[in-house]
Amino acid sequence: MLGHRPDRHGEPSSRLHSHGDTFDSTRFAALLEVEGELSLGLVEEAITVCAGLFDDAGVQVRRVIDLGCGPGVGTALLTQAFRSASVLAVDGSRAMLERAEARATRLGHAGRVESRQLDLNEDLASLGRCDLAWTAMAIHHADDEVATLQRIRSLLDSRGLVCVLERADPTFIRFADDLGHPGIWNRLEAARGEWFESVRDRMPGAMNAEAYPSMLAAAGLHLVVDRTLVGTLEAPPDAATNQFIAGQLERTVRDLASVATETDLHALRTFVQRMPPSTEGRWHGASITSSRKLLIARPTAD
Ligand SMILES: C[S@@+](CC[C@H](N)C(=O)[O-])C[C@H]1O[C@@H](n2cnc3c(N)ncnc32)[C@H](O)[C@@H]1O
Repeated sequence: MLGHRPDRHGEPSSRLHSHGDTFDSTRFAALLEVEGELSLGLVEEAITVCAGLFDDAGVQVRRVIDLGCGPGVGTALLTQAFRSASVLAVDGSRAMLERAEARATRLGHAGRVESRQLDLNEDLASLGRCDLAWTAMAIHHADDEVATLQRIRSLLDSRGLVCVLERADPTFIRFADDLGHPGIWNRLEAARGEWFESVRDRMPGAMNAEAYPSMLAAAGLHLVVDRTLVGTLEAPPDAATNQFIAGQLERTVRDLASVATETDLHALRTFVQRMPPSTEGRWHGASITSSRKLLIARPTAD
């Protein structure tokens, strides 16, 4: 396995075919499932926008393909939303697909959900046609995003849509406890924004969500929706969420080393270190803010 660089979100920035081991791990699939559940509201919002466009056009959605489906949180929501549709979950990682299949079975969707292991860098024609090609937080892993979007475009039925969701800003976590430093979470969030602006241009590949409108255009897709979705939720006090939060906070300490004040960093570091790992309820009072860039496009006339 080649070495991998973490991207700005701490996921592997890698291309799956060269870093299969990284994505193809049960541990990582479980972590992505937690993250998926924490941003479920944003995915529901994006699906509602897609469904509205199909309704307005009088199109009944018969087939959805979820490209880079990961552990299948989005797949399940798509299946629930488009009740007349069959849904094909596609991913390069077997571990992710197993998780997605288990979720579909658990929710009673198995009859309408199929899965397929396939590399998004390869020919996608064998997936067949669809009304909605959905790809969330996955396209940035492709070797050549425009080429992959072109292949996705060719899957669309007439009046079909492609929906791309990518992270807009890094996830941010704040607590009710101000650690004895009033305003600390606002300052850390501002510092995180400053840090992000300073590294944005050096992000590998297409990690910059702002680049997607022009990539879609280059792939022969006409943008019909370009929106930023933002949502905040109270973190459920379970062990899996605790682990996710711990990872995010450790990353915040690391990323902000040269941006936040030493006093705030010290308070945050102490807060993180003080907490015993994996204790349920550990992060009581945590709220998590996530954001997504939502881009929906249809093929331009040839
Ligand atoms: C960050 S996850 C997103 C999962 C899910 N769509 C979501 O929104 O939670 C990215 C997914 O893309 C898959 N992936 C990355 N590169 C891929 C490639 N070249 N071919 C197929 N799948 C790939 C990974 O295995 C992983 O499941």
